[in-house]
Amino acid sequence: MPQKDIDSLLSEDRRFPPPASFRSGARIGSMEEYEKMYRDSVENREEFWAAVADKLHWFRKWDEVLRWEAPKAEWFVGGKTNLSYNCLDVHLKTWRRNKAAIIWEGEPGETRILTYQALHREVCHFANVLKRLGVKQGEPVILYMPMVPELAIAMLACARIGAPHSIIFGGFSAASIRDRVNDAKARVVITADGGWRRGEVVPLKETVDKAVDECPTIEQVVVLRRTGREIAFHPERDHWWHEIIEAVDADCPAEPLDAEHPLYILYTSGSTGKPKGVLHTTGGYMVGTYATSRWVFDLKEEDTYWCTADIGWVTGHSYVVYGILANGATTVMYEGAPNWPEADRFWSIVEKHGVTIFYTAPTAIRAFIKWGEQWPDRHDLSSLRLLGTVGEPINPEAWIWYHTVIGKKRCPIVDTWWQTETGTIMISPLPGATSTRPGSATLPLPGVVPEIVDHDGRPVEKGKGGFLVIREPWPAMLRTIYGDDERYKTQYWSTVKDAYFTGDGARRDDDDFYWLMGRVDDVINIAGHRLGTMEVESALVSHPKVAEAAVVGKPDEIRGEVIAAFVTVESGVETGADLEKELKDHVVEEIGAIARPSDLRFTDALPKTRSGKIMRRLLRDIAAGRESAGDTTTLEDESILKRLREKKP
Ligand code: WTA
Repeated sequence: MPQKDIDSLLSEDRRFPPPASFRSGARIGSMEEYEKMYRDSVENREEFWAAVADKLHWFRKWDEVLRWEAPKAEWFVGGKTNLSYNCLDVHLKTWRRNKAAIIWEGEPGETRILTYQALHREVCHFANVLKRLGVKQGEPVILYMPMVPELAIAMLACARIGAPHSIIFGGFSAASIRDRVNDAKARVVITADGGWRRGEVVPLKETVDKAVDECPTIEQVVVLRRTGREIAFHPERDHWWHEIIEAVDADCPAEPLDAEHPLYILYTSGSTGKPKGVLHTTGGYMVGTYATSRWVFDLKEEDTYWCTADIGWVTGHSYVVYGILANGATTVMYEGAPNWPEADRFWSIVEKHGVTIFYTAPTAIRAFIKWGEQWPDRHDLSSLRLLGTVGEPINPEAWIWYHTVIGKKRCPIVDTWWQTETGTIMISPLPGATSTRPGSATLPLPGVVPEIVDHDGRPVEKGKGGFLVIREPWPAMLRTIYGDDERYKTQYWSTVKDAYFTGDGARRDDDDFYWLMGRVDDVINIAGHRLGTMEVESALVSHPKVAEAAVVGKPDEIRGEVIAAFVTVESGVETGADLEKELKDHVVEEIGAIARPSDLRFTDALPKTRSGKIMRRLLRDIAAGRESAGDTTTLEDESILKRLREKKP
């Protein structure tokens, strides 16, 4: 762990207690209430979660709340439920039947509102389509879609029949799709003829076609007509969504599924090798997303809630769709870019739909700051009552701007720490209780037992940096890495004994508040999205002209971090701007546009220790343009550093 980085701390003393007006109406309105809940959740863990689960619908009640044989957790054992049923059918018996479930806005400007009843009907139809395509319970289905209601419909349809979905973010490349499809051995892909982003069509179907050539298991592709643009159509394999839906009826009862039935696979980056298929299951995840949506977002019946994340990331799974609909609230979805056609698009959506809760990423906030206050100032943002952030630590300047310019000093901010693996928010303020401090995710939610430890798993003193681990199981925790229980154990449960290893560094202050300090492994956080340096290195090395590559994160004002790559080429290869572009494009081809290196420097050698390990710490310093303060005596050849420094990109 880069101990030095971890000890260089922010000192942020400002405190922001919840406004009295917010507190008085909040679900959890005081620290006493939070503390009582927290104590209860830790001392009577099973009763605590059983009481939450009781608020949801079960076809059969569980026999046992938790079966825990570290690192294997089973929650609500013996219980049968269905998350699609809990997101839809339960509301149909109430006045919510005709309430907006999804308010959607397309980038070109169209709006669609789906009531719970309408959404239910669409989901049932599509679930029948899946059945007609021969999809069986337990069979993974790939979704590669734009941010349109049909993405949520397809998810809920999968959940309805017990086919785990594997959603691939629409920005990933054909090679990324190929790896994910082949890992899951999927037979069916759901996609669209494209989606709108910054006025252009993202050619999703074309990318799928490229991937499918290398995916022997794929038999059927369902294509939603979204943009109307011309695509290649293979009648023996491809089906138009609007045609195949005509062939089925709307009667599709939700399948009673075991609580531990797989709900979805979502691939995420780790420090080594290929992306990991994080597996979430039905009952615990449902209970966790339902509860945390209420606690953290203070979600109420009358809220119009908007999380700007793409459903292709875990934030979209848990807090655009499942947690929000399970609460019967209204969720807003937007298809496109925040600055299309102009830099006030988000604020125009907030105003138009009267958004009350707004959840976004620090990288977006930093972009808004750059674009200027005149854009939000054009709009009436008085409907907002709560703001949230996720994805990376938020710098205090961005926090204060968000608080002042967007929240008009009226709205609490919840800085929510969590991961694809945790399934739900873990450390976060409760907006009616916690006095927040800019830059701190504050305190653990009920049921979450974090600790900050050193290399040997010993708790570190307050104020000192260390590894963030979680000690006890929680309902929405990942169950395994799809098809690889061994990797699940080694990745998460072996670095620190008897604890889940988050890969993040953190410290705790005198109020016991948590301050997240970034990754301690080789994962870079670009605009709130995780990428393993190894993935980018493998992509570079797969190019025939590249001999060796090392990739590190480099600080960036807007995106948090960007990629800096150091590359050595095969002998005889000519380096220069052409090859630089070729290699950057190659990475995009292999992984997707988010992985495009910002800097790429050619070098005749990489800084290595005598035992041959690349010293990334030094490369990070070089990429950031700072002097290396640390020890360089283990370097095999010190002159490399000087040569690398002289090579400005
Ligand atoms: C980082 C996103 C600081 C962290 C939900 C974590 C954060 C990784 C925060 C997970 C936050 C997320 N403060 N860091 N509020 N939220 N992170 O899997 O490094 O895409 O491990 O899940 O993002 O990213 P993932």
